[in-house]
Amino acid sequence: MTATPDWEKLFAAAGKARQRAYAPYSKFCVGAAALMADGAVFAGCNMENASYGLSVCAERHALAGAIGAGSQKLVAMAVVADGTEPCPPCGVCRQVMAEFGPASTEVRFRNGAGEERSHTLGELLPHAFGPGFL
Ligand code: THU
Repeated sequence: MTATPDWEKLFAAAGKARQRAYAPYSKFCVGAAALMADGAVFAGCNMENASYGLSVCAERHALAGAIGAGSQKLVAMAVVADGTEPCPPCGVCRQVMAEFGPASTEVRFRNGAGEERSHTLGELLPHAFGPGFL
């Protein structure tokens, strides 16, 4: 049985993680929560670095926690940031999500005003490169 997203629970976990964001350079704090097929939820925040290119996004942080705990099937991802528009995942995070979730994986993102967008991973990353090409 694949877990069904409880979006309010996921956004609550993402919001809590966002409070722990380490973003002294951009000051753009992001939180994410990944629901895995076994029902486990893993949250993450962005983690920047003085060597800017080493920064890790909240979505990849959340997924790294899942993989480290042995949970590999992504079902849904909630992302919270505080921009004028809800913040969609960056291209790198889309590719990393596609490693662990099918094109039907639902990704929802909200801003501080509670505005929300929802897309499948297939919409966010069409024609994805994946293990089938190797
Ligand atoms: N960031 C995320 O954590 N997730 C996204 O989907 C977009 C961008 C972070 C990276 C960096 O720490 C800050 O937001 C500004 O780009």
